[in-house]
Amino acid sequence: MSANKSLLILPGDGIGPEVMREARRVIEWFERRRGLSFAIEEGLVGGAAIDAHGVPILPETIARAKEVDAVLFGAVGGPKWDGLGFDRRPEIAILSLRRELGLFANLRPAIVMDALVDASTLKPEVVRGLDIMIVRESTGGIYFGEPRGIETLPDGTKRGINTEVYTTPEIERVARVAFELARKRQGRVCSVEKANVMESGLLWRETVTALQQREFPDVALTHMYADNCAMQLVRNPRQFDVIVTTNLFGDLLSDLASMLTGSLGMLPSATLGAVGPGGRRHALYEPIHGSAPDIAGKGIANPMAMILSFAMLLRHSFGLEEEARLVERACGNVLGSGLRTADIMQPGLARVSTQVMGEAVVRELDKLGA
Ligand code: IPM
Ligand code: MN
Repeated sequence: MSANKSLLILPGDGIGPEVMREARRVIEWFERRRGLSFAIEEGLVGGAAIDAHGVPILPETIARAKEVDAVLFGAVGGPKWDGLGFDRRPEIAILSLRRELGLFANLRPAIVMDALVDASTLKPEVVRGLDIMIVRESTGGIYFGEPRGIETLPDGTKRGINTEVYTTPEIERVARVAFELARKRQGRVCSVEKANVMESGLLWRETVTALQQREFPDVALTHMYADNCAMQLVRNPRQFDVIVTTNLFGDLLSDLASMLTGSLGMLPSATLGAVGPGGRRHALYEPIHGSAPDIAGKGIANPMAMILSFAMLLRHSFGLEEEARLVERACGNVLGSGLRTADIMQPGLARVSTQVMGEAVVRELDKLGA
């Protein structure tokens, strides 16, 4: 029996709880069949926490998130909470977790599985075999920079302010994650900013360049302006291996990249903190899709991104590479067998519910892991 692995599960709002239920089936499979043992706690975040406690996340929940080995997060938000003030919105839950746990490296893979090559709006020959990893900085930049706010000017008009700020240590630590990932992939990093118009972008470029020369001469580094990167991602996405970029550009570019794959419902993510003493690091795993309030409660959401987020958890928090691949292979095979949730439905294939999809992944695990 391996040591207890502690998880905090935060299903959140909308389709979050539905897809989390399917991820839990997969967790239970590993307990039953692989002797892994997870100590699981659940908590409320987002609108669910606002309804119960009046805040998007309780300080206790953040404290628990710091204690456990890994956080598995669903999604937050929905029209019910749209009118709330800026500091009380459901999204504050995920932003606070990133910030308070120091989760600075947001890993967002965009992978086109063979079975889904036709789901993309781009031509199959452009996206077939696509495998990009976007490393988005996630505790700095304009999301958190000061000064920020809305102020009233003497003439009664208003001024909204946000600030893009990056320090060398902030840039180095996220770039280091990107370079290390590239070493295990095709060995190429493209660093993305707007050094042509922003000082913080210029510092980003200089810092990444110096780091590569100092510590990663074996990794090929290129630079791109963010606008060009958006264009190149659509023109010829396979030119990229690892992209490293700022918080805001990473937010935009990862949404763009996700659509190359045709379905937001397929893409997981990991957000990692610094490696501490004993190799421990804070980490949070979440699907890229949001809470999708329009389809919540209908049992039609795609649980794959949530399940694949658990695969990333196995890999990055526990070093269980083989187990992570097993989950990924099971998901691929289920799609290969023609099962589809509504979001990735194609003519002639079998449209199934969230639960049937989750159960199919577990059955496939039984087969593969027998
Ligand atoms: C994301 C989301 C969040 C972000 C929101 C919910 C705050 O869009 O994870 O990409 O902007 O970072
Ligand atoms: Mn986003």
